[in-house]
Amino acid sequence: MRLNSPQINLIVKACMKASRSLIRDFGEIENLQVLAKGPGDFVSSADKRTEKILIDELQKAHPNYGIITEEAGIINKSNTQNRWIIDPIDGTMNFLNGVPQFAISIGYEEDGEIKCGVIFNPIMNEMFCAEKGNGAYLNNSRVRVSNKKKIKDALLVTGGPKGASKIKDKIFSEYINISKKVSNVRKFGSAALDMAYVACGRFDGYWQRELNYWDLAAGVIILKEAGGFVDFFEEEAKSPLKKNILATNSHIHEELKGLINEKVIE
Ligand code: IPD
Ligand code: CA
Ligand code: CA
Repeated sequence: MRLNSPQINLIVKACMKASRSLIRDFGEIENLQVLAKGPGDFVSSADKRTEKILIDELQKAHPNYGIITEEAGIINKSNTQNRWIIDPIDGTMNFLNGVPQFAISIGYEEDGEIKCGVIFNPIMNEMFCAEKGNGAYLNNSRVRVSNKKKIKDALLVTGGPKGASKIKDKIFSEYINISKKVSNVRKFGSAALDMAYVACGRFDGYWQRELNYWDLAAGVIILKEAGGFVDFFEEEAKSPLKKNILATNSHIHEELKGLINEKVIE
């Protein structure tokens, strides 16, 4: 791999270490203690264990960097210049059901801009990485977005709504509307991998409402470096960590944006 910033090397090392216990936990899925965090949203002991390994590794090198992480929240809040954005397991529902579609996702941000990121599915042994200006990789191979130009031929991916969503009807009718105008739509259950799959051309585009920044931070740089385009739509100024995302191969971007903006049930 031709990515060699100190930050990406650190993230890769932390991912490799955390993935060893994650693979063990995946093998012992029945023994995991599962606590309900809210409808449709579970937190397992594996999430916490993985997160701790990642934080410990990253903090060994940079104790003062800020961290935004799903389970533990914000660490070193005053440092907004250098920040790790961590989702220890993206795709927990898949993980808990023994479905090997989940990943560790870590982005690194400098002065508010994502500089590099890694999305690692330890079961499939697929590591997606990117660094600003140096391209995106899947393991050792350079990846690029698909070349599909017409929305009617596009294979898209989406996700949600969460169990607790207050806009389920809107999300479902948007899904129906878009489904009618594209080749097909998938729901794979890991926002990070959905982004990575657009980056390597497996899907042509991805949209989803009600995500969190840690679901997407690494995916944003990976997709951009693979030649894709990312937009956040209908952003709420009061909750900067909440995101609605539209991420595509760039060719179908405007058309898909148009479909999202079409009037659907409120
Ligand atoms: C979830 C996954 C899923 C998406 C949910 C996310 P988690 O993250 O990315 O694909 O539909 O909105 O919360 O809870 O597995 O880390
Ligand atoms: Ca997530
Ligand atoms: Ca998670």
